[in-house]
Amino acid sequence: MDDRQRYDRATAHLDPPFAVLDLPALRANAEGMVRRAGGKPIRVASKSVRSRAVLERILAMDGFTGIMAFTLPEALWLVSIGMRDVLVAYPTVDRAALAELAAGPVAAREITIMVDRTEHLDLVESAVAGVRDRHEIRLCLDVDAGYLAFGGRFRAGVRRSPVREIDQAADLATEIAKRPGFRLVGLMAYEAQIAGVGDNPPGNPALTRAVRLMQARSRRELVTRRGRIVQAVRQVTDLEFVNGGGTGSIEKTAKERAVTEIAAGSGFFHPRLFDFYRGFTGRPAALFALPVVRRPAPGVVTVLGGGYPASGAPGDDRLPQPYLPCGLRYDSNEGAGEVQTPLIGQAAEDLRAGDRVWFRHAKAGELCERFASLHLIDGDEVVDEVPTYRGEGRTFL
Ligand SMILES: Cc1ncc(COP(=O)(O)O)c(C=O)c1O
Repeated sequence: MDDRQRYDRATAHLDPPFAVLDLPALRANAEGMVRRAGGKPIRVASKSVRSRAVLERILAMDGFTGIMAFTLPEALWLVSIGMRDVLVAYPTVDRAALAELAAGPVAAREITIMVDRTEHLDLVESAVAGVRDRHEIRLCLDVDAGYLAFGGRFRAGVRRSPVREIDQAADLATEIAKRPGFRLVGLMAYEAQIAGVGDNPPGNPALTRAVRLMQARSRRELVTRRGRIVQAVRQVTDLEFVNGGGTGSIEKTAKERAVTEIAAGSGFFHPRLFDFYRGFTGRPAALFALPVVRRPAPGVVTVLGGGYPASGAPGDDRLPQPYLPCGLRYDSNEGAGEVQTPLIGQAAEDLRAGDRVWFRHAKAGELCERFASLHLIDGDEVVDEVPTYRGEGRTFL
């Protein structure tokens, strides 16, 4: 039985639209990630999963420790339902959530928040000023791991932290050490230009060469700079962890001595954008099914819904991929539509109203903002249905 037959059979009792998670594919992807990490623990990036039940399943497997959350309210919620060691990877300015963090002994023990300027320290201090019996706030210092060339005129990577050089990191660590109520426990440097950029993009040899060259140079630069920054900060304070990497760079980042743990999330679902790496392959694990609702002309079918583009710089690569049956493509005038989506191709000839088309999202966790639950498939059966964050009424972003 091929995958399409298996998915159709397992979900024959369901009316699309709905989303599924193929459990053996998820497990195989997770095992592959652990192998690539070569013994270093992987912190699970929750933004790329967005289902509490799935996070729990992943954390129950060997090789994964802790969560990398995307907002402080999310982290507070995760800790309130029993999760431990949650790093909020992006700065928070949510005053109410900060006050709750400082007030709760468990939250303050289990959650670490991100800072990259003294401005963040000031803001946290003012947000927690009215809290009685305040607990120490655990901090992680975010370091820019982007790649600069030609005197800064070329830049690859994400624009996040202003802290890039050794003395900047040491200065901020020293400032934190001077302020009561804070404890610097971690350092994070995320090399998006390696972890999030496929080095095997289709159909453009010049781009492929440029990406590989940039990534090789960036790695060389980062291994030295990250190592020196960690050394300098460790002279100011003990660090519990140094976090780096993402799904696309696990095996590379794990080799750096200065890095104690890898962050990764997209690799579990293995969405479309992660098809283009040389270092690993994964199995598409998260899919959604849309029903064929009409057939406008020979070789064209229309499915209900479908316009679920991924975040990031807009482009065709952000659209969901019509996956099964293979051989379907978008109409260039319409793309993936708000309430309906025409699909063109030979495969459309065999589809009738009521059949399904299976899609992959371009990114991982954003899929879960569109569906209230994931149907868990094992073999040719649905074995469980679990809520997404959205299904639990938790829409953090
Ligand atoms: C700080 C940080 N670390 C790691 C990652 C990698 O996550 P993933 O493996 O889901 O691509 C991201 C993704 O944006 C990130 O922001």
